[in-house]
Amino acid sequence: MKKLGLAVLLLAGLLFVTACGESKADPASIVRGGTVYDNWWKAAEGAAEPGGNQPLWSLQSTNTRSGTDTWRCKECHGWDYKGADGAYASGSHATGFPGIYNAGTSKKKNALLDIMKGGNNSAHNFSPALSEAALTDVVNFISEGIIDETKYIDYKTKKAVGADVSNGQRLYTSTCLACHGADGKMIEFHDGEWVGTLANDNPWEVLHKIRFGQPGTPMPAGVASGWSTDDAVDVLGYAQTLPE
Ligand code: HEC
Ligand code: HEC
Repeated sequence: MKKLGLAVLLLAGLLFVTACGESKADPASIVRGGTVYDNWWKAAEGAAEPGGNQPLWSLQSTNTRSGTDTWRCKECHGWDYKGADGAYASGSHATGFPGIYNAGTSKKKNALLDIMKGGNNSAHNFSPALSEAALTDVVNFISEGIIDETKYIDYKTKKAVGADVSNGQRLYTSTCLACHGADGKMIEFHDGEWVGTLANDNPWEVLHKIRFGQPGTPMPAGVASGWSTDDAVDVLGYAQTLPE
């Protein structure tokens, strides 16, 4: 009887795991995947900066960038993961390419890995450039790390939606201030751009970087510190109050 009970228990457990889908990735892998998505040659160990244009780039002509930029996942799929359906629907970054949000919420990890290896389109084969480990990280990010940014950012005003600015200030002060300063102006990103500037100009990018960090730098990732998405949005909301 005892053995039968155990067998039933094991079977129930197996069915439960199957019904719940795939096993959860290590948060560190999801975070690495987020930085790969941002800039894979700065983020992934052993990856080299690519030359020329990504082969799919010639399918569009609205985004006139060329060279290394054309190889960044975010350049084609957007900081909000929605590609042509999101913030990159128009403007100088528009390509018409799809986002990854739908794939991330509907496709299994092995199908996503296959897409990354050119299974659907050989021009989308990143396996010569990225190790199996880096591809697994980016798949874990797509499957478990992306969020629907339309819930957190007002696309018209670019403001963080429902941000608790005092919680954001508390987190900014304990985590970001040491490097970026109380006014966000200790590091200048591009000419005349600081935390406050970028938070108001490109909140989708800043929300991604608050959650996953900045590739190739010691900037910490909120996701690795156990921050919820709401915490990250609170920091974005506070960053939008900093001087531009
Ligand atoms: C030059 C533009 C470009 C770059 C760079 C690019 N992709 Fe794509 N991606 C596409 C296009 C176009 C598709 C659409 C279908 C196809 O051709 O595979 C696609 C499809 C996808 C899909 C499947 C979407 C779906 O709905 O099925 C995923 C996931 C994906 N890309 C992830 C990535 C990741 C991760 C990176 C970076 C390592 C990346 N892509 C880099 C253009 C790009
Ligand atoms: C350990 C130091 C460090 C900490 C802590 C840190 N950052 Fe950074 N951050 C950097 C560095 C270095 C860069 C890269 C600057 C560059 O590229 O010029 C960066 C880049 C950025 C960028 C993007 C710049 C760009 O060009 O895209 C933003 C936005 C940002 N940080 C915001 C934050 C916020 C918000 C926090 C707190 C959650 C934070 N950082 C914590 C060091 C740090």
